[in-house]
Formats: sequence, C-alpha cells, structure tokens
Amino acid sequence: MRILSGIQPSGSMHIGNYLGAVRQWVTSQNPEAFYCIVDLHALTLQIEPDKLREQTIDYLASLLAAGLDPDVCTLFIQSQVPYHAQMNWLLECVATYGELSRMTQFKEKASRQEGYRVGLLTYPVLMAGDILLYSAEQVPVGQDQRQHLELTREIAERFNNRYGEVFTVPEGVQPVASARVMDLQDPSRKMSKSLASPMGLIYLFDDASQIEKKIKKAVTDTDNEVRFDWDKKPGLSNLLEMFASFSGETPPQVAERYSRYGDLKKDLSELVISSLAPIQQRYRELRADEGALRALAAQGAEKASEVAGPLYRRAAVAMGL
Ligand code: AMP
Ligand code: TRP
Repeated sequence: MRILSGIQPSGSMHIGNYLGAVRQWVTSQNPEAFYCIVDLHALTLQIEPDKLREQTIDYLASLLAAGLDPDVCTLFIQSQVPYHAQMNWLLECVATYGELSRMTQFKEKASRQEGYRVGLLTYPVLMAGDILLYSAEQVPVGQDQRQHLELTREIAERFNNRYGEVFTVPEGVQPVASARVMDLQDPSRKMSKSLASPMGLIYLFDDASQIEKKIKKAVTDTDNEVRFDWDKKPGLSNLLEMFASFSGETPPQVAERYSRYGDLKKDLSELVISSLAPIQQRYRELRADEGALRALAAQGAEKASEVAGPLYRRAAVAMGL
C-alpha cells in the first residue's frame, strides 16, 4: 500500500502526535510507505533557523525511536527533496484563493497573528504536493488534517480533469481511538504545539514526575462518576481515550474498572510512563550520533527523489512546461 504522511518539526512532539499519527505510521510501515519531516511547512511559523535545523534532527531521532525502520520504509526531510517546493508552485496554479481562505486551520492561525505569512494560506497546497508526489493511496493523520486531505483530493481531481490522469486521489486514515487528543487543561481544544499551555500537553520526552503531575492536575468535572461521555465529561473522556489507546482496550472498558478519578489518573500515569520509557531510551541513544542521523536522512532523500522526480516531471509536462 502506497502511504505518505508528514509531521512538522516545530516544538516538541506530544502524545497527540504520537497517538493520532506516528503510532499508525509505525504499524503501517512497508516498503511503499514514505514519511517526511516537513521543515518547509515549519517556515510558516516564527522559528529561529538554528532551532529549526536542530529540531528537524530531533524529530528524525524521535521517529526512529518510536519504531520507524529505514530498512522497511522511507524516512526523509522534506526540504532535501526539491520536488516538494517545485510541485507546490504547480499546484498553487490549480488551487483557488477561495478554497484556501476557507480552511479552518488558516482562519484560526491567521486570526491570532497580524501580518501573517502567505505561506500560512498556501500551506495545504504544499501538503497536497507532498502527498501527490508519491501517488499515496493512504494518508494516516489526526482529525485536524481531514479538511486538508479533502482539499488534496479536490486538487488532484481538478488537475486530472484539466491536464490528464497524473495523480492518485488519496484517502485519509485515522486511528480508531485518539484521532483528536485534547488539551489536559482545556478539553474543548486539541492538544497542540502552537497553543502550548505547558500543563495541558504531555510531551513524548517528559519525565515520570512531569507526566504524573500533568495527569494529576488534568481538568475533569466534579460529579466523580467514571463514565465515557464526550459531551458531558470531556476532560475525563479524554483521559479514558488516552488510556484505551495505550492499553489496547476501548474507553468504556477502561471506565468500567474504575469508580474514582484518582485511581484512574494514577494508573494512567503509570501506563503512559511505562509506554514512553523505551522510546525515550532509544531516543537518547540515537540522538547521540548526529552523523549517523544525517547520513540516514541523505539516504532517505535519495530514495524519495526516485519516486518524486518522475511524478513531478509528468505533472510539469502535463501542464505544458
Ligand atoms: P503537526 O504536529 O501539526 O505536524 O501534526 C502531525 C500529526 O499529528 C498530524 O497527523 C496531526 O493530525 C496529528 N496531531 C496533531 N495534534 C493532534 C492531537 N491533538 N490529537 C491527535 N492527532 C494530532
Ligand atoms: N499539515 C500536517 C500537520 O500539520 C503535516 C503535513 C505536511 C502532512 N505534509 C503532509 C501530513 C502530508 C500528511 C501528509 O499535521
């Protein structure tokens, strides 16, 4: 199955990224799967150049630590494959201003900044190019990317109708649980790097005491009945869903075993700590050898280019270049 997905190397990876996306990447990896660290997308944010470079390598080590195997799939850094930026321009001449300005993520982010970059508007076009360059059939992402995926399908179909069949129209795939992990302090909004409320996020590399503290302080309600109910009990349901994602149960199954919030929170802390510990250990080992990580990235970019290059040329020729 041809798969492509990406993650921005901004901020630190959190368990929303892990449960919503990265864990699916690991289980679905195969020789036809491509995963990229989208450093070009990160340029839409205010981020120090040296910091971006460093975080890009941090993310590479994190993805390997989480279980991606470069002997099985292709793991690469987006900017090292120049076809992504080139395809972006072709697709900017297929997408419309109207559809881009209607994207929820754009509207939200633009409303929080003055003088936002044009890249924030065209961000989903670059993403569409990432996907279409690899003829991906499936794109594993969290729920927040659904709209961008719909737009990708739209752009692919419009291109194919106008210029001939070049692109595969992709499907989004979401995890059964935790497609949208919510902020621990405000369960009405998703856990997000860009709205960092430090106590609301659990980072992949938080230590045991931080994880314990954050889960203990997580906002719930006051009636103290353990029940899975997103409408009436969003904070608690978020914890139940997180629990179920790590333990492999369903949220109601977890709820049934508990009668007190405190017990649930205590066991959830232990579960998260023990699930993340081996990833954290592997990360420390991998991150220590930056030369090896850079060599791996170079190999990944070469493998990715072999697929993206011919597809880019087909699209360019179809458009008349
Ligand atoms: P980003 O960090 O925005 O590059 O997102 C990388 C991946 O993580 C995407 O597939 C997102 O859909 C997913 N993701 C980000 N935040 C969450 C969240 N709170 N819950 C579930 N998935 C998420
Ligand atoms: N926009 C995605 C996010 O913020 C990241 C991304 C970029 C992506 N290119 C992609 C995801 C291609 C899937 C496929 O989460």
